[in-house]
Amino acid sequence: MDFNTAAETNIFDRPKILGKAVPRRDGPLKTTGRAPYAYERHDVAEGQLVGYPLGSAIAKGRILSMDTEAARAAPGVRAIVTTLDMEAMPVPSEMHTAHLFGGDKVEHYHQAIAVVVAETFEQARAATALIKVEYDADEGAEFDLLAAYEKMKDTPVDPEVSKGDFETAFANAAHRIDRTYVTTPQNHAQMEPQATVAAWDENGNVTLWTSNQMIQWAKKAVAKTFEMDVEKVRVDSPYVGGGFGNKLFIRSDVVLAALGAKAAGQPVKLAMPRPFVMNNTTHRAGTVQRIRIGTDAQGKIVALAHEGTSNTLPGGSGEDATNQSQHFYAADTLLIATRLAEMHLPEANAMRAPGEASGLMGLEMAMDEMAEELGMDPVQFRLVNDTDTSPATGKKFSDRNFARCLTEGAERFGWENRNTTPGSRREGDWLIGHGVAGAFRPSPATTSGARVRLQADGRIIVETDMTDIGTGSYTIIAQTVAEAMGMDIEDVEVRLGDSAFPVSSGSGGQFGAVSSTAGAYAACTALRREVARRIGHNDADGLSFARGNVTAGAKETPLVDIAPEGEIVAEDKVKFGSFRKDRMVATFAAHFVEVGVNAWTGEVRVRRMLGVCDAGRIMNPTTALSQVIGGMVMGVGAALSEEIAVDTAKGVFINHDLANYEVPVHADIPEQEVVFLDTLDPVSGPLKSKGVGELGLCGVAGAVANAVYNATGVRAREYPITLDKLLDGLPEV
Ligand code: MOS
Repeated sequence: MDFNTAAETNIFDRPKILGKAVPRRDGPLKTTGRAPYAYERHDVAEGQLVGYPLGSAIAKGRILSMDTEAARAAPGVRAIVTTLDMEAMPVPSEMHTAHLFGGDKVEHYHQAIAVVVAETFEQARAATALIKVEYDADEGAEFDLLAAYEKMKDTPVDPEVSKGDFETAFANAAHRIDRTYVTTPQNHAQMEPQATVAAWDENGNVTLWTSNQMIQWAKKAVAKTFEMDVEKVRVDSPYVGGGFGNKLFIRSDVVLAALGAKAAGQPVKLAMPRPFVMNNTTHRAGTVQRIRIGTDAQGKIVALAHEGTSNTLPGGSGEDATNQSQHFYAADTLLIATRLAEMHLPEANAMRAPGEASGLMGLEMAMDEMAEELGMDPVQFRLVNDTDTSPATGKKFSDRNFARCLTEGAERFGWENRNTTPGSRREGDWLIGHGVAGAFRPSPATTSGARVRLQADGRIIVETDMTDIGTGSYTIIAQTVAEAMGMDIEDVEVRLGDSAFPVSSGSGGQFGAVSSTAGAYAACTALRREVARRIGHNDADGLSFARGNVTAGAKETPLVDIAPEGEIVAEDKVKFGSFRKDRMVATFAAHFVEVGVNAWTGEVRVRRMLGVCDAGRIMNPTTALSQVIGGMVMGVGAALSEEIAVDTAKGVFINHDLANYEVPVHADIPEQEVVFLDTLDPVSGPLKSKGVGELGLCGVAGAVANAVYNATGVRAREYPITLDKLLDGLPEV
């Protein structure tokens, strides 16, 4: 199916199942422990041994020697593979930066340097500790982003976007601010660590039962890393315990399990210990963001500059904090620039809403500061600078209802009753504050395929290598197919995550829901054509599919009667045409937050949150709500607690577990409300829906930060806003 023009009225405009609050299909399995995660795939391969990884204890340099003698002699040990046993394996893809294994060169702390395979986990772990490694560490490697920023900030860079004469417009602006914001590195902190069961067969085929967001990328990456034929690789990942970008790409668990299995001649399972997840995989880079805004006397933005600096390993791409500033607000002149500080911290890579999540932490605090400078209501300031066109590209948004997010949110939140003088409202021991922020995140779509199999009993099995990373893919794909075929949702079985299935979009960049449901729809359209043919029609136009029947004129045929001799299989994929690129397809939100800040201790408590989202048709209010609630919780973490602490002498992430890397829990946010405008965006895809998974995080931290300022009168420009950053400036008590 080619999606080459905006969707017209179609079956999804009179939905019976799509748009309903259907509960998560995998919910009962996950909450009762019956969903088998990668490390629990005990039944897929017999004789599984256990692998344990060893990571480098230096961040940069070379390994001179590895003594494995004691480890090899330890109880239960069956194989050891060290990085000195082979040349550096190829970097798995263009999206990877660091090597995953092989060779004597160390690029970052806890880069994998050995795997020990033993009969039990305890044996493997104990033996790993017996390996002696001699290093030659490079002196003078750079690990401190703020220090690097100080050195490079005055060096001119070519702007990414330069529209009009920013400097002159800024200098002549009636009002202006020039501020610098800092975000610290973050980790995805997904519940399920990376884990893989690997098994080779006698013909050199490898199967990897793993936890991954992008099955086809994983399959290709394994083939590239092992320099083998891609058709000899199978990847299976039906349940994923969270990813947030940390599982977009294969990591060393896949490579170590496969190497260990080969060396031991038996299947091997390996899960990353949590500290290894933090330092071995990827993180969201910290950023330093200089933002300048100039307005005219009425508050129209005449000049906007956003310069972002982030860290990366040499050759990587860091965290681009500036994207939203190119498109979100009407700005007469723009200056957008990024700087990359090459450092030897672990690999910086995508984490939920990469770019915008960090960039809006800067921009939306700057918008708040600018509104205050103007003496304007921050909601009003954003409304004044709303736009239907991206100032950077000149392209129109396909559908944009940001103003409605702001006005309906303000109404619902009771914004008019907010505290207007920072640091002035007190209830008992608590200073009360209110904050608002806007959110923007593109909503891309990408080719996605599926296969549908109409069974003799009238049921349908859907197969696609799409993943469900906690997002609801199983559920919304079932809804889409049930809707398209006019069936009960109970009669649709969805199978995901196996590379033996048609290639899908996978889960990433909040493109998964839009793309994979459209792919399932494409397959259903092919099936409808085939059903039509079986009942004597050239095509499915004019036929109706409802209540498990197909109706042609006066003749109604149960789907059960269509394939009595065996299943009918139809497969297709959706391809999104270039017309989509003529528009800006994006999602929007407004977030409103009330906080209490303890007047004596500076402790911040979120009291209530409201998010109003504009993301096209909401396919399932339950799963979409979960996505946005989860994103908002993550945003509170970004604002108040989440911070990878960097040992800037050694290049180690110190707080490498969930006791010390602090994420919010349910009790931290007593009241949380989400409203979906439930708009329609026919340019986005055949279902007229857009992504919500990343939107839910965008802007949230800025709203929290602005509320903290409003409560205290203290403007903390370095996230996370911990109480030490507030204490000195709190009002006298
Ligand atoms: Mo997302 S950071 O593309 O999983």
